[in-house]
Amino acid sequence: MISYPENEIASKMVELIKKINHHRNLYYNQDNPEISDEEYDRLFSELLDLENKYPKLIQKNSPTQEVGGNASNQFEKVTHHVPMLSLSNAFKEEDVQRFHERNLKTLQLLFLEYYSEVKLDGLAIELIYENGALSQASTRGDGITGENITLNALTIPSILKKLPSLPSKKTNNKIVIRGEIIIKINDFNDLNNTRTQQGLPLFANPRNAAAGSMRQLDPKITASRPLTFYAYQLVNAKDLSLITHSESMDLLKEIGVNVNPFHLTVTSVEEIIQHYKKIEQERESLPFEIDGLVIKLNYYDQQKAMGSISHHPRWAIAYKYPGNQVTTSIKDIIIQIGRTGALTPVAILEPVSVGGTTVTRASLHNKDEIIRKDIRIGDTVFVQRAGDVIPKVVKVVLSKRPDNTSPFEFPSSCPECNGDLIYEQEDAIIRCGNINCPKQLIERFKHFVSKNCMNIEGLGHKLIELLYQQKLLSSFSDIYQLKASDLSGLERLGDKSAQNLIDAIEKSKMLPFAKTLFALGIRHVGESTARTLASSFSSIDDLIKSDLDHLMGLPDIGPKVAHGIISFFENQENLNEITKLRDLGLQFKSSSTSNVNLPLKGTTFVITGSFSNFSRKELTEKVVSKGGKVSASVSKNTSYVLVGENPGSKFDKANQLGIQILDIKSFLQLIDK
Ligand code: IVH
Repeated sequence: MISYPENEIASKMVELIKKINHHRNLYYNQDNPEISDEEYDRLFSELLDLENKYPKLIQKNSPTQEVGGNASNQFEKVTHHVPMLSLSNAFKEEDVQRFHERNLKTLQLLFLEYYSEVKLDGLAIELIYENGALSQASTRGDGITGENITLNALTIPSILKKLPSLPSKKTNNKIVIRGEIIIKINDFNDLNNTRTQQGLPLFANPRNAAAGSMRQLDPKITASRPLTFYAYQLVNAKDLSLITHSESMDLLKEIGVNVNPFHLTVTSVEEIIQHYKKIEQERESLPFEIDGLVIKLNYYDQQKAMGSISHHPRWAIAYKYPGNQVTTSIKDIIIQIGRTGALTPVAILEPVSVGGTTVTRASLHNKDEIIRKDIRIGDTVFVQRAGDVIPKVVKVVLSKRPDNTSPFEFPSSCPECNGDLIYEQEDAIIRCGNINCPKQLIERFKHFVSKNCMNIEGLGHKLIELLYQQKLLSSFSDIYQLKASDLSGLERLGDKSAQNLIDAIEKSKMLPFAKTLFALGIRHVGESTARTLASSFSSIDDLIKSDLDHLMGLPDIGPKVAHGIISFFENQENLNEITKLRDLGLQFKSSSTSNVNLPLKGTTFVITGSFSNFSRKELTEKVVSKGGKVSASVSKNTSYVLVGENPGSKFDKANQLGIQILDIKSFLQLIDK
């Protein structure tokens, strides 16, 4: 093993401490970070590793020895008699395994029970109730000294102002509850939209927004922010003779406290990992942002026996998910033209890994967004990736802006064909107005042949461009008139590949009506709307004859989509093209419905809330497999609304409209009939 001189190690530690303290101050005290949580965690782990290897060199002011931020002098200070600690992190299965083994060994037991709950990404607070009334709310601060934010807490609807009396004399009529203040994702988006309209700076993420909103000197500002509280700890549970954390959470829930909703008691590392994976799958559809699970020993006497060190308890661990935000720099901004002519600015990034995937581009949405966020070439930015969606630039780190940047200039004509640009105010979209813009045509072809449309394998982007230049493609029907001899002379396309492509084109003619309809590229008609249309009309002629009212009566079709459909069929060129495609053998009729006898045929479901044993996708598949449909919004055409935990406004709407409500049990009975 190479050994470095101690002074080198010590100075590395000092350097890391300086960096961590700088970022910690930005994060905890100013709610305005410069680096992502994951980058912060990496610095912290690096320091921890060095300290574990060289315990003699641990510096007094190391952030590993203390918790979070500092209490600001702007607020009155409060002392936490039970310290509000941080948690140590687990990133891998092995880390959880090690945690479990240490617990088994220290406690000399063969079996342990854990409470696994989601780790909410917000601001930790403590609430003290005396004689049934909220008497004090405080932030964590450095763990011992926090900030008194009682007046702010009193403005938050999900914080109870009064508690019903609890059956114990030992508490001195005092109850101490801890939990997280968060902003739900929908509320966060609304908040940032309002701030855009008011010309105010945007929040990078719900966590910063929540933390910033709680630490306001004027409670009116706090009151104007959509904050939500979820409890995750009953500090003086022992006084109430409770013996497990799960009992405490049940009790709090019973008396009306908003309790962290996604949890499970588990008894093995395998179960913890299973829970971790399940929640990871659901992560995108949860109403709030989470950054991991917290795994806690369920029995209080075991928690006590494991004890704590200065920074974190030994009885709990945060099992983190890969972060979805990172920082990187913008190398260039380019303009992409889509099949509808929309100009989309795209940031070309210094490549960066986000949750295991390398990201090189991020969408900047539209011109307004670039102006609003003042995004410039050369800027360091936060980039966020969620699921399969294109990564987006969340926010510029202004403190890292180089000196010589200038605001981005959006083109004043189409960068492809120089055509005039049309500004569509409603959606803030700028379009190239030239319907013959070559780039738009090529993008329409790419869509037409893509996997979810006509699925013509072998007709790749390069070949489409080549055929277009050679004037062999100008409309979709041209694809079906290509001959092997047209193709085999082309660059890098042998006889065999040419024939394969012709076969693939021929095969695509048999694809069902819904696919053909989607491939046509009707404005606002996505895959699921195309399916709705194909199952609601027996042929394209019926669809062409239909009117706005009829279309808007169909599930998930609103005025925008309906107008898109009507204006598509008002265009004579489109009608001629459909005739040609039909004559060439494409499917424009619904195939005889094979699902006539399915029990849910003709019914439409709406799903709201969350379910501990099923993902949304699983529930949707159950409905569809029995012939039913799942729609996103409740209307008079909805047959049933399936309601889980924490349902949204759809539940209220269903009640208003008198639509039949199902809980998961009656739902399962219905579909198993
Ligand atoms: S338990 C001593 N449970 O994570 C253990 N914390 O990194 C006390 N957090 O300061 C914390 N969700 O702000 C716990 N379900 C949860 C949590 C949670 C979020 C936060 C909390 C804490 C931080 C530690």
